[in-house]
Amino acid sequence: MNASTDGTPSVRVWDLPTRLFHWALAVLIALQYATGEFGLLDMDWHYRFGYAILALVAFRILWGFAGSQTSRFADFLRGPAVVLRHMRAYFYKNPQSYVGHNPPGGWSVLAMLACVLVQALSGLFASDEITEQGPFADRVGEKTMRLLTRVHDWNQNVLLALIALHVVAVLLHLLLKHDNLILPMLSGRKPLAGAPALRFVSGWRALLLLGVCAAAVVALAWYAG
Ligand code: HEM
Ligand code: HEM
Repeated sequence: MNASTDGTPSVRVWDLPTRLFHWALAVLIALQYATGEFGLLDMDWHYRFGYAILALVAFRILWGFAGSQTSRFADFLRGPAVVLRHMRAYFYKNPQSYVGHNPPGGWSVLAMLACVLVQALSGLFASDEITEQGPFADRVGEKTMRLLTRVHDWNQNVLLALIALHVVAVLLHLLLKHDNLILPMLSGRKPLAGAPALRFVSGWRALLLLGVCAAAVVALAWYAG
C-alpha cells in the first residue's frame, strides 16, 4: 500500500484494462468527430476508428460482467432512491464516498456506453448519398438507411452532450469537493482510508475478452467487404 502526501493510504481502485479502455475510447471518439465533422483524414479512417470503438465497447460490456469489482455493472448501478439521496447530499453536505463510480456516475457510464454503441451501430448503415457510405448501407432498404443516417446525425449531439456533462461533473468534483477523480483514472490508485478489500481479476482475462471482441469485429468488417 502506498501513501499520498497527506499520509492517507492509497489503494488500487481501477484495473489497467478499464483505464486503457477509457483513454483509448476518449481519443477514438475525438478522432470520430475530427474525421466525420471536420474532414481530418480520409473517411475510411472514420470507419476504421469506428470498428475499433465497436470492439472496445463490446469488450467493456463483457468486462462489466466478468471484470474487476469496480468495473462490474452490479457494483456501480444502484436504485433511484440511492441516486437521489447521493445527489441531494452532494449539494448540502458531504455525501457518502464510493470506492468506484458513485451512484449517478454509474448511470452516466451506462448512458455513455449505450450512446456510443448506438452511434457506432447506426454508422454501419449510414450514408450521405453522395460520397460517404457505411459498410452495410447498401444491404438494407433505402428507408432503413435514411432512418439510421438520421440516428447517426442526431445521436452525435446526444453523445456530445453526455461527454460535456461527464467532463463538467468530473471538474466540479475537483473544484467543489477537492476530489481529483482524474488521477485515479490514470494511475489506478486513490487516496482512501479504511477502503474495503477489492477483487481484481487477471489482465489475461481482459486480453482474452478483447481478443474475442476484436476477432468478431474483424469478421464483421471482412463480411462487409
Ligand atoms: C470522449 C470523451 C470521453 C468519454 C466517451 C468518456 C467515457 C467514460 C466512461 C465510459 C467512463 C467509465 C469508465 C469505466 O468504468 O469503464 C469514464 C470514467 C471517467 N472519465 Fe471519462 N470519458 C471521456 C473523456 C474524459 C475526460 C476528458 C476526462 C478528464 C477530465 C475524463 C475523466 C473520467 C474520470 C475521472 C472517470 C472516472 C469517474 C469516477 O471516478 O467515477 N473522461 N469516462
Ligand atoms: C462512436 C462512433 C462514431 C462517432 C462519434 C461518429 C460521428 C460522426 C459524425 C460527427 C459525422 C458527421 C455527421 C454530419 O455531417 O452531420 C459522421 C458521419 C458518418 N459516419 Fe460516423 N461516427 C461514429 C461511428 C461510425 C461508424 C462505426 C461508421 C461506419 C463504419 C460511421 C459511418 C459514418 C458515415 C457513413 C457518415 C457520413 C454520413 C452522415 O453524414 O451521416 N460512423 N459520423
